[in-house]
Amino acid sequence: APDAGFSSAVIEWQKQHGRHGLPWQQSRAAYRVWLSEIMLQQTQVSAVIPYYQKFLSSFPDVHALAQAPSEQVMAHWAGLGYYTRARNLHQCAKRVVAEYGGEFPADPVLLQDLPGIGRSTAAAITAFSYGTKAAILDGNVKRVLARAFGIHGYPGSKPVEDNMWRLADALLPDSGIEAYTQGLMDLGATVCTRSSPTCLLCPLQKRCVAKAEGLTELLPFKKPK
Ligand code: ADE
Ligand code: SF4
Repeated sequence: APDAGFSSAVIEWQKQHGRHGLPWQQSRAAYRVWLSEIMLQQTQVSAVIPYYQKFLSSFPDVHALAQAPSEQVMAHWAGLGYYTRARNLHQCAKRVVAEYGGEFPADPVLLQDLPGIGRSTAAAITAFSYGTKAAILDGNVKRVLARAFGIHGYPGSKPVEDNMWRLADALLPDSGIEAYTQGLMDLGATVCTRSSPTCLLCPLQKRCVAKAEGLTELLPFKKPK
């Protein structure tokens, strides 16, 4: 990679200071990783944990979920919000059973075609389950990249987002994709936070453009009005 220092800093930091022991980190089973990533799309870790555990005990595998009545699936989601996620989740389980014999595909391009799974979620699932080298780019990662590389421009705009996808791809490590992916998520959630990032604890501080130039409050650019 052209900039292996970035990924190795993230990986080393994740091993020492990242989040470990979350319920979905106990297993590489794609069903479990998929379920956690869908729940975590719009919901905080602390709120997801009890739902994740109860959901798994009622629907232990993709076959159980695919066969369940939709009212029962919706009842298990009640309280988590963004209910389109639950409808997509159920549809996705049915398709994984019908089209893939119950095995989630290891190719992010195939995963992305399933309901509720976008490009970033597909990459997270395949990285954690299969060790596939694929880039994530959610809101937290956009913030880290915008600051570390001094990217001006609103990350929700197509050209800026395209640029960030190219950068995210180019930064991928040749090994350790799981720790790298988790590390980027953890950095965005715990250190490079939206307001008042803790740059003194950041593994990227020596190479961060926003920190050097005093732009951590400006970057990433907000949505233009
Ligand atoms: N947010 C999205 N995916 C996550 C994960 N695997 N761990 C913690 N937070 C997340
Ligand atoms: Fe974010 Fe600060 Fe780290 Fe830069 S040094 S990536 S602004 S936490």
